[in-house]
Amino acid sequence: MSTHPAIHSAGLEQLHSRIHARTAKIGIIGLGYVGLPLALLFNEERFPVTGFDVDSAKVKSLNSNESYIYRIPQTEIAAARARGFAATDDYRHIAEMDAIIICVPTPLNEYREPDLSYIRATAEAIAPHLRPGQLIALESTSYPGTTEEVLVPILEAGNKAGIKAARGRHDTLNSFLVAFSPEREDPSNDTIARRDIPKVVGGLSTAASGSSGAVYNSIFKKVVPVSSPAAAEMTKLLENIYRCVNIALVNELKLLCLRMGIDIWEVIQAASTKPFGFHPFYPGPGLGGHCIPVDPFYLSWKAKEWDFHTRFIELAGEINTAMPYHVVTAVASALNRHKKALNGSKVLVLGVAYKKDIDDLRESPALTIIEELRRQGAEVCYNDPYFPKVGQGRKYNLHMSCTPLENLGQYDCVLIVTNHSDYDYQRIVNEAKLVVDTRNATSGIRSEKIVQC
Ligand SMILES: NC(=O)c1ccc[n+]([C@@H]2O[C@H](COP(=O)([O-])OP(=O)(O)OC[C@H]3O[C@@H](n4cnc5c(N)ncnc54)[C@H](O)[C@@H]3O)[C@@H](O)[C@H]2O)c1
Repeated sequence: MSTHPAIHSAGLEQLHSRIHARTAKIGIIGLGYVGLPLALLFNEERFPVTGFDVDSAKVKSLNSNESYIYRIPQTEIAAARARGFAATDDYRHIAEMDAIIICVPTPLNEYREPDLSYIRATAEAIAPHLRPGQLIALESTSYPGTTEEVLVPILEAGNKAGIKAARGRHDTLNSFLVAFSPEREDPSNDTIARRDIPKVVGGLSTAASGSSGAVYNSIFKKVVPVSSPAAAEMTKLLENIYRCVNIALVNELKLLCLRMGIDIWEVIQAASTKPFGFHPFYPGPGLGGHCIPVDPFYLSWKAKEWDFHTRFIELAGEINTAMPYHVVTAVASALNRHKKALNGSKVLVLGVAYKKDIDDLRESPALTIIEELRRQGAEVCYNDPYFPKVGQGRKYNLHMSCTPLENLGQYDCVLIVTNHSDYDYQRIVNEAKLVVDTRNATSGIRSEKIVQC
């Protein structure tokens, strides 16, 4: 295909000047935990933003100034709406956008293999409405090669105008721009504003790197360019595998410390005083969330294509996956010391969110723990201020309602799975007969009733 760099660079300049003038239209696809805050960030910077989601209930909520994410207040949605933000499930509006950012889910299927069906469906929906000069940036976490091998071919095959993705230094009048930029949000971490988190961006072409850099530079303080979408995809996986492996390491050391009668929390605190070369990670009841338990397996799956076995990922996965079962065993042996069997005992699970102070249940170890406790005959209730109900998820079907945090003496065991800040742990220990603590939430409270696990 022939190139018209001079003509096209004029088109690119137009896009850059629209970005600079805040008139570039931004489309965010997937208005979940990642996409909605991102849409609000662009909106705060006075860009015209349209949110796209296939979930019409979410679209309806947003267009009625309502929020469905706990930490995003309704007032924020209302303010964004007043500045022009709107949501839609109609992909025809894609044609009006200058930059389109994809934030759809990337889970694992039942065989723990990457499920790219959401990315594929999104690409198929965008493709008929693509027009030359548009920027498509993927943010969904995935294995290196997803942008180039999965997203781009669907976009190219699905548009009748025959427009192609610009590659390398070649961009033409008849091309669109593609980049990958990983999301680095840390839910409930209020110590750093989202715009202060540097944004890694890898473009498929020089023009895509320039345009995506300009788009993200307008809302993030620092953009970190890398040479390709694959390098950006791998960067995200390195960050999450680093966490997953280190959490597995402390989880394993915790099991050893429990056996040796050493307090792992005291040890981590002491090691953290080293001013260099040590970063603390903390043990827990198992991994949760959309990222850390899932993303590493995207890489181990892809590595097989290269005859490569990612042993650290597999080992970390094995240790972390076993943690909820360790918790159930610890509850059984704590009850045993009280001359009780798990079968028939009443257990109150405190906290079902996968980490403290958030309203996210995805992959939460609490779900496995509850199912396993029930399977072994325990009568299980839960309390979590963020979840009035736990219904049906991808892998579980618990159908439970939140139990009020009162009359704790009625339970044979209170099991702390998520250390929400709202809980009064001293009161809980005072009222309960037995407390099994998976998070060191009762640190500083002296009581024979507490069993660390
Ligand atoms: N949640 C986090 O903290 C976090 C952090 C970093 C990266 N990520 C990654 O970001 C991506 C999105 O995660 P999330 O937590 O926002 O997911 P989410 O489930 O909260 O939101 C995804 C949204 O996409 C919508 N959707 C699905 N298919 C669609 C389609 N074809 N068209 C339009 N909308 C569609 C869903 O209805 C949903 O509203 C994932 O790849 C995840 O791994 C998430």
